[in-house]
Amino acid sequence: MFLSVKDLTKSFGDLTVLKNINLDIEKGKIVTIIGPSGSGKTTLLRCFNALETPDQGIFSFDDGMTVDFSKKLTTKETIALRRKSGMVFQSYNLFPHKTALENVTEGPLIVQKRPKKEVLELAKSLLTKVGLEDKMDLYPHQLSGGQQQRVGIARALAIQPKLMLFDEPTSALDPELVGEVLKVIKDLANEGWTMVIVTHELKFAYEISDEILFIDGGHIIEQGPPEEVLNAPKKERTKQFLKRVLEY
Ligand SMILES: Nc1ncnc2c1ncn2[C@@H]1O[C@H](COP(=O)(O)OP(=O)(O)OP(=O)(O)O)[C@@H](O)[C@H]1O
Ligand SMILES: [Mg+2]
Repeated sequence: MFLSVKDLTKSFGDLTVLKNINLDIEKGKIVTIIGPSGSGKTTLLRCFNALETPDQGIFSFDDGMTVDFSKKLTTKETIALRRKSGMVFQSYNLFPHKTALENVTEGPLIVQKRPKKEVLELAKSLLTKVGLEDKMDLYPHQLSGGQQQRVGIARALAIQPKLMLFDEPTSALDPELVGEVLKVIKDLANEGWTMVIVTHELKFAYEISDEILFIDGGHIIEQGPPEEVLNAPKKERTKQFLKRVLEY
């Protein structure tokens, strides 16, 4: 087990967005989260990456690290948690005034303070891996959406995380650019990365996922292999959601 999540709860003011979430993520497995708008998908990913602090819950990692959110986290714990996962955002979130290469080197160089030569080599190899070897010196506004998102993926990989998190990585893209980004994610899957992906691309989710979670109103309504959750959902709410997505 890479990560075991116990009883995770997160509220914003009076609004409880995640309610007693229990979840196991196995090493090398791909968990895909689907669910309606506002159901808490992004918030859950942000909790994994310590971008949000849960009100309660326990994370237990396979390396022995345990984080109990009912106690106040130390800065050291927050940093350790953040280093475990790389996040790919829906809207890319690149630094506009930095080149593709500088976007990728920023984390390891400035935050992790790793040696410059090593970081440059790593960043170049990651940009090559995502098919951008000839675009390294361009700025985000000079890149297509698909290229920007591939920089986003290289940037997340550059911190050498154990877990990759994707929040609707293709939903801001023109349809003809979706494929190139999904291909990079599939390559990572084949390399054995542990990943949590929020997506509305059900065909992609079906092909790539080991497990699908359907969440609604901050609860996990249904979970299981894609053949079960997508093809033979048991819960009425899952059926209705899938029907709506497929109609769209
Ligand atoms: N920082 C915040 N402050 C207050 N409320 C928030 C905050 N972030 C999220 N919320 C609320 O939490 C709920 C869940 O939001 P979240 O972004 O996790 O949903 P989502 O499932 O990712 O939706 P979408 O599919 O539209 O991206 C929403 O009602 C949202 O308004
Ligand atoms: Mg979201």
